[in-house]
Amino acid sequence: MWATAGWAAAALVVVSLPRWLPGRVVALRGWVFTRINGDESIPVPGDLVGVDRFREVYSHPAASGRSRGAALSDLFWYWLSPGPEMHQEHLEEGERYDAVALATRRILSVPRARAEELTRRCVTRALRDGQGRDRRGVVRLRDLTMPAWAEFSYELVFGEECPPYARDLIVGNADDVVTSLKCCGLRHMDRRDRLTAYLVESLPRLRDDVRRELPPGLTDRERALYLQGAFFNTAVVQMSEATAHVLMALAQHPEVQDRARGGDDRYLDQVISETLRLYPLFGIAHRITTGEIPLGEGAAIPAGSVLCFDYPSFHRAGFPDPERFDPGRFAPGHTPVRELNHIPFGMPANRPCPAWRLAPLMMRVAVREILGAYRLDSTAAHTRSLPNRGPCLLTPLGAPRGPGHRMTLLFMRFRDDWENLWRSLVQLVLGTYMVWDARRLRLCERHFADLSGDAIRS
Ligand code: HEM
Repeated sequence: MWATAGWAAAALVVVSLPRWLPGRVVALRGWVFTRINGDESIPVPGDLVGVDRFREVYSHPAASGRSRGAALSDLFWYWLSPGPEMHQEHLEEGERYDAVALATRRILSVPRARAEELTRRCVTRALRDGQGRDRRGVVRLRDLTMPAWAEFSYELVFGEECPPYARDLIVGNADDVVTSLKCCGLRHMDRRDRLTAYLVESLPRLRDDVRRELPPGLTDRERALYLQGAFFNTAVVQMSEATAHVLMALAQHPEVQDRARGGDDRYLDQVISETLRLYPLFGIAHRITTGEIPLGEGAAIPAGSVLCFDYPSFHRAGFPDPERFDPGRFAPGHTPVRELNHIPFGMPANRPCPAWRLAPLMMRVAVREILGAYRLDSTAAHTRSLPNRGPCLLTPLGAPRGPGHRMTLLFMRFRDDWENLWRSLVQLVLGTYMVWDARRLRLCERHFADLSGDAIRS
């Protein structure tokens, strides 16, 4: 009898693993990261700066250091290689940053009709498989949409349709970056370097206006790395993740999906805003203070502090029942958006996203195209970091949904639970290795040490 009870208890533990183990592993990963990386940062909101002063501190002119002086930067530079020193997100303020930011703004300033037409064309292509048939069945939404955004970015920069070879290189690069950022896989520099080499070779084919507008004084390799960082890494990763989040939210809220399919763009915009509130793409954005930030009553944040602005916490503060997905929060007649704790594209006063106007427009068109063709269903977990890449069942509109449909959704749930368990262990091991490797390579620290050395020598 004891043996039977023992087997039953063991079976219970095994069956319940997907419920409790991933959470414990995530906590353990956080602890390991802090041990290796050092607990150097000030969380905002936190004990020192509350939600009420989040915007004020983020917008403060002294919250402007981007990379230099934070151990955390070594990790981001590791993940965003090659060329993190040319990535707009990580350039320090100065002439080079201004030139790069201007070039990005110009490339992104496409007329609305052109952006919409290009999105429609790229998404329509992504909805066909290699044989030209409509995709259907279970897909991973991030994988489904990434080729569309790769083609979009290519055409934006080069002004011509994206050849399949280039699309595959871009997807190979972006997927490798986002997979390693989420610690679901190691980085593969060969995949990323292949794209850099292709871009260096392709510079003479750039759209004339883009070529003229590229930041002056850069080598060909630096130009290629700048384009790779902003347009073939950040743009592709962020757009695929954002679209996957919106589609996942719709797949799990059928009544919202039905209403969104109705054609009212204002409602779709509310869905996008609510999705980006609940699942902001940035977990944390960090800044290194370049001077003291006074907090009043003698308190201050000293120069050289690493501030970690926590988007998910900020986006939950001040909203009733904040975990609930409710696009109605953004409906006309409610609190104006600028008064809400909602900054999916960053703070206007401190290096906000240069695509803050264009990206919602592109998302709206992409989601509309997909909703016009499919019914979406998903029983997989929907979390902010979306490590499962958004499993979703695509059923062509009007096609019957029989018992097989329900079985597929049951199986999706079961598989997702067990994948989640395995993945959390993989993330723990690979994440620990990459944090250690990034500390060993110290890409950011060495870059700035070399610059200071050069300055002293000259
Ligand atoms: C829905 C999609 C997107 C979201 C939610 C998003 C969000 C953000 C946020 C929150 C920041 C600021 C982070 C900080 O304060 O450090 C940022 C910065 C940035 N984003 Fe986006 N982004 C999106 C799409 C894009 C696209 C399409 C591009 C195309 C080039 C892009 C390029 C950049 C760049 C270059 C920066 C750095 C800005 C700077 O430091 O000057 N993003 N993004």
